[in-house]
Amino acid sequence: MDAIELLEKDHDKVENYFTQVEQGVTPAKGKMLFKNIYHELSVHAIVEEQVFYPSLGGKPEFKDLLKDAFSEHAEVKQQLGEVAFMEPGSAEWTKALGKIWKEIQHHIEDEEEKLFPKCREVLSEKELKVLGAELKEAKISKLDSELLSMPLGFAKDAEIAGAQAS
Ligand SMILES: [Fe+2]
Ligand SMILES: [Fe+2]
Repeated sequence: MDAIELLEKDHDKVENYFTQVEQGVTPAKGKMLFKNIYHELSVHAIVEEQVFYPSLGGKPEFKDLLKDAFSEHAEVKQQLGEVAFMEPGSAEWTKALGKIWKEIQHHIEDEEEKLFPKCREVLSEKELKVLGAELKEAKISKLDSELLSMPLGFAKDAEIAGAQAS
């Protein structure tokens, strides 16, 4: 799997979780879905920021796209941190997650329609494959990383999710 295929697969996974949220959830299912969303997005953002984006950073044609990407990640992270303290399945929670999903969709669109096609132009197939392997490796190590902090009350769940994933 090359780098782009791997990142798009992550995007699809997150989309699936948000689609389930949109269909309406019980508090228990909402809690589980939020945990999965938080976990998936944390690992995805970390490996993009630490492995994928820096691999493109030196190239001027990526500068503006990457600047936007970093600030959009930061925005989503902050908002997810706020949702972590809301009652899963409540009207407030559903509304906040709906807003976050809109922003993430915009970000995913930018990546899949602008950033990734540019990568395919600039990087060779071999480079993308190597980068894909690096991302995969980084994802596995980040699952146990201290960087993957969860807001209060979710820490234990994150450990369980990490254990299941490895
Ligand atoms: Fe992404
Ligand atoms: Fe991203």
